[in-house]
Amino acid sequence: MEAPYRYDLMPLETPDESPAWADYLDVFRFGFLQTAATDEGLATYRTHRRQDGAWLGRVTTEGPGLDGRRAVAAFASAPSTINCGRGLVDALVINTVAVRPSHRRRGLLSHMMRQQLDAARDHGRALATLTASEATIYGRYGFGVSTHVHPIEVRTDRFTFRPDVPVAAGSIEFVPPAFLKDHWQRLTRAHQARHRGAVGHLHGHFLIDTGQWDSRDNGPARSLRCAVHFSPAGEVDGFALFTPNGWDEEPITVTVRKVCAPDESVSRALWRAMADMDLVERLNLDFSMPGDPLAASLTDPWAVRTKEGDDPAWLRILDLPSATAQRGFDGEGSVVVEIADAMGYCSGVWRLQAHDGHGTAERSDDAPEAALSVDVLGTMWHGDRTAAELALSGLVRGERSAVMRLSRLFQVDERPINLASF
Ligand SMILES: CC(C)(COP(=O)(O)OP(=O)(O)OC[C@H]1O[C@@H](n2cnc3c(N)ncnc32)[C@H](O)[C@@H]1OP(=O)(O)O)[C@@H](O)C(=O)NCCC(=O)NCCS
Repeated sequence: MEAPYRYDLMPLETPDESPAWADYLDVFRFGFLQTAATDEGLATYRTHRRQDGAWLGRVTTEGPGLDGRRAVAAFASAPSTINCGRGLVDALVINTVAVRPSHRRRGLLSHMMRQQLDAARDHGRALATLTASEATIYGRYGFGVSTHVHPIEVRTDRFTFRPDVPVAAGSIEFVPPAFLKDHWQRLTRAHQARHRGAVGHLHGHFLIDTGQWDSRDNGPARSLRCAVHFSPAGEVDGFALFTPNGWDEEPITVTVRKVCAPDESVSRALWRAMADMDLVERLNLDFSMPGDPLAASLTDPWAVRTKEGDDPAWLRILDLPSATAQRGFDGEGSVVVEIADAMGYCSGVWRLQAHDGHGTAERSDDAPEAALSVDVLGTMWHGDRTAAELALSGLVRGERSAVMRLSRLFQVDERPINLASF
């Protein structure tokens, strides 16, 4: 990146009245073909970025058509955590990236990525994660798809749980989303602590889930509805968020935005409450994980139809020894792997070992038994794909016995579940 381009972090203390805020946010709004932000939208952005302790990376420049030095590229991220099967691991969540079309393909994204990943590693973060708008951008930076989703469509007329499947006792009430303000943090954190692959929610998620912000309404949410479940002791132990699609759509459909309950039997109670709503023929959930447990628990599993999948979370390993030490291993074994990493963070030959739930990654002089690139390791990290499956795609190479050992080393007892996208 050459002068007059300059990279820096926009301070979160930048005064509210500074035009730098609108300048910064508009790089994203423009990049994603949205209208310029309203004053309310800008204020909301300032609030949630400050709450998150975000890193507002930007590239500024000057030249014809620019009123002084202006931001032409931006890269917003925030510290968060990921459940890697053994507690929560510090990670960098990359929220939004955009470069003005007039400054594209000059290496600005690559420069911002390097700056932020270096800084994350220097701050002791072993992992970085993001949501991609295109599948071809982030592999070169070492990110691999770590959790897939397969949207589901549920027929309410065929929705009955098998008699042997427990559904939580207690009661359901439909409440304004703002009701969640006192319960949201406890429940989302408990859900994250329960599920491997779950990424921590940010303040923006809080604003959205409690109805304080909806980007489609450019203000408070008007269409978001909420169901909460109360335990027999009266404690709120789960919630579901949903939006009716309206009368024009046939069959009449409700889009389920989120079902968050650390206990699966409470999730079932919430699903049943939504399926029991009069007039509703379909419940659609976009954020459903492969192997979603709902279908198997119904008398008629065909009531749930799985649609084509998507990939909301990508993972980048920045510090292999630290990330390995913080990952819970359900499998056991030892294998020497050669990892290719164009950015250098994890490249080299490593002995990966796991025993009794604990893993280590140590540099090794032994001959590698398997070879893969760091983005492929990211895809294996939460168990979304096994080494054996990835070998079938030509992404893990080596003797079959070594590939199988690598598969068993990274095997997980439960598939990853993540409710947050960024
Ligand atoms: C995607 C975007 C951020 C790329 O910014 P950029 O500054 O042009 O990227 P760079 O110049 O640093 O390019 C780095 C590499 O990525 C490649 N690349 C960039 N954008 C790409 C895309 N959309 N698809 C595939 N490859 C892409 C470049 O060809 C280059 O490849 P190379 O390293 O082999 O030469 C920019 O095009 C953009 O703002 N797009 C609209 C918003 C968007 O999609 N943001 C990403 C949201 S997840």
